[in-house]
Amino acid sequence: DDLIGQGQVAGKRVFVRADLNVPLAGATITDDGRIRAAVPTITRLAEAGAKVIVASHLGRPKGEPDPQFSLAPVAARLGELLGKDVAFAADTVGDSARATVAGLADGQVALLENLRFNAGETAKDDAERGAFADELAALADTYVGDGFGAVHRKHASVYDLPARLPHAAGGLIATEVGVLRKLTEDVTRPYAVVLGGSKVSDKLGVIDHLLEKADRILVGGGMVFTFLKAQGHEVGKSLLQEDQLPVVREYLARAEARGVEFVLPVDVVGATGFPDLKTLAPSSPVTAAVDAIPGDLIGLDIGPESRKLFAAKLADAATVFWNGPMGVFEHPDYADGTRAVAQALIDSPAFTVVGGGDSAAAVRILGFDENAFGHISTGGGASLEYLEGKTLPGLAALEG
Ligand code: 3PG
Repeated sequence: DDLIGQGQVAGKRVFVRADLNVPLAGATITDDGRIRAAVPTITRLAEAGAKVIVASHLGRPKGEPDPQFSLAPVAARLGELLGKDVAFAADTVGDSARATVAGLADGQVALLENLRFNAGETAKDDAERGAFADELAALADTYVGDGFGAVHRKHASVYDLPARLPHAAGGLIATEVGVLRKLTEDVTRPYAVVLGGSKVSDKLGVIDHLLEKADRILVGGGMVFTFLKAQGHEVGKSLLQEDQLPVVREYLARAEARGVEFVLPVDVVGATGFPDLKTLAPSSPVTAAVDAIPGDLIGLDIGPESRKLFAAKLADAATVFWNGPMGVFEHPDYADGTRAVAQALIDSPAFTVVGGGDSAAAVRILGFDENAFGHISTGGGASLEYLEGKTLPGLAALEG
């Protein structure tokens, strides 16, 4: 709105850094939530008469063009959602990008190819990133940062480019920050947090911070086996991060000292082999209590008693933040734990926030109504780092 008011938009080339990093199976988009979330800002700018240049990363290519990470399928879907043609540039700062931008009329939209096809985007070296940001800046007059899912990355298009152009935050970033602020300042209690996902090492920072903030922390997903092991259980062939055991033990002790309740599963569902996620062929799931996990079992979900326990622990919360699936929800045999947590959030009168690329995709893929949750964040790592209280480069750059 600031930029529109200042006349920085009408007739101008406006660079919109979105996060269109969606899950793909081949060239098929399996969850378009991030593309839909990007639409309102793009529409507003186009309606205000901007020539809108949208840019994003997709996946983690190695700094050079790699067709499996092309944004071409995203351009097609974005066009459908906008109800207008999206011109797709076959590169990010090359001939195709320059010609595509030059061909835009006021109110038209272009999408550049994957920013990470250029090594400068993610370079650690400031000068290398700056050089790429200079090339991006030459394409545009104005910058709008709206890729909330990537604001924790100190990348050229996120961090260096806004310093080179008049800039502002888009509506998605404003909404996301508004919601996450409610979880960090004046949170309504009891505050329960559900954490899942595979690696405990990805969640240590946020757990450390939540030990000061949350009343209750429920843990599922692959990371839970490191917690169960720390409590003295055998976990069979389940995912285990041995090197994290000391820190997990320290967190459990600190939680007890502070009166923060850690809720761990009492039973798990698993199998002796990893399920086939391509064919989704039926596997042979086994349920085991956590004190009797067979030596050959790979834990793949929380069990039926744990689903009841988790639902009960969420029922009387006033605020809930959920990040990370409870199991391998992509396979129907191991989706019940994730489904139960989603349902518990829906049934709870609490203010509920689903954070994370994976958990957000999970609720949609499992068929839940997005509107039944307080907020579904487009940020995975970004929302966790926000909750940790870290300075996020992409937000700091927009304030400058
Ligand atoms: C995400 O999916 O969390 C964001 O798009 C950032 O992606 P990255 O972890 O590859 O930087």
